[in-house]
Amino acid sequence: MLDLSDSYVDKNRSADRKMNSLRGKTVINLFFENSTRTRTSFELAGKRLGADVINMTVSSSSVAKGETLIDTAMTLNAMHVDVLVVRHADSGAVQLLSEKVNSAVINAGDGAHEHPTQALLDALTIRRRKGHLGGLTVAICGDVLHSRVARSNIHLLNVMGANVRLVAPRTLLPAQAERLGVEVFHTMRQGLKDCDIVMMLRVQNERMTGNFIPSIREYFHFFGLDYEKLSVAKPDALIMHPGPMNRGVEIDSDLADDVERSVIREQVEMGVAVRMACLDLLTRSPRENA
Ligand code: CP
Repeated sequence: MLDLSDSYVDKNRSADRKMNSLRGKTVINLFFENSTRTRTSFELAGKRLGADVINMTVSSSSVAKGETLIDTAMTLNAMHVDVLVVRHADSGAVQLLSEKVNSAVINAGDGAHEHPTQALLDALTIRRRKGHLGGLTVAICGDVLHSRVARSNIHLLNVMGANVRLVAPRTLLPAQAERLGVEVFHTMRQGLKDCDIVMMLRVQNERMTGNFIPSIREYFHFFGLDYEKLSVAKPDALIMHPGPMNRGVEIDSDLADDVERSVIREQVEMGVAVRMACLDLLTRSPRENA
């Protein structure tokens, strides 16, 4: 998938980036949660490949009248859709939906569970910069507890042979986090020491019920990435963030924009290529994929 995505990065940078390999295919973006990057990049990806792409906004669909997730899926299924791209606030909702329809279903983020295409675009970004993933030390820092991005990245990076660290206050880590195949740290100084990649996570206020951090000010002091905390990482360590960022909360604003260290904009670019690869592979006949 990363090799195929790589070829789409080059294609997207050329003037001749419109293709017709998905001509006649229909992609529906069904987003029950807000999104800028994921939804737009799936739309662009589908259109660049020549598919018909429909964006369904939940607030203007019959979901707003009380139609259930399954009934919505069955309704779309009856229209012979080829790919459903789904984001939902509940963990497991996308899996459930995929069991009810005939089309391919892509998880564009479900609750605090998984965000697989984000992990793929992160892996592509790292591999293009560092040449490989195996053996790299990647520190995933911040609100791991509520982060689907962290979970998908842990799985993918482990499969690719990277060393994964989690750096977070105890209140923002899942129970028994070590069982995910990671090393756990509770200070940035220890967790970032000699690492190759610093992946910051958004503080997900919308998923928090109760007080997980004493204050924004204190959180930034101990866990917000700034030049001083970054100084213990390798000199060529890259900074990543899936977006949207809370500037001055989990990351210093100047550092986020520092093109010598930050690859945050590049992650967004890679998102289109990775999603083109997903749509391409999932709409091929089984024989083409064999
Ligand atoms: N990274 C990410 O999923 O961003 P959006 O919520 O804007 O799609």
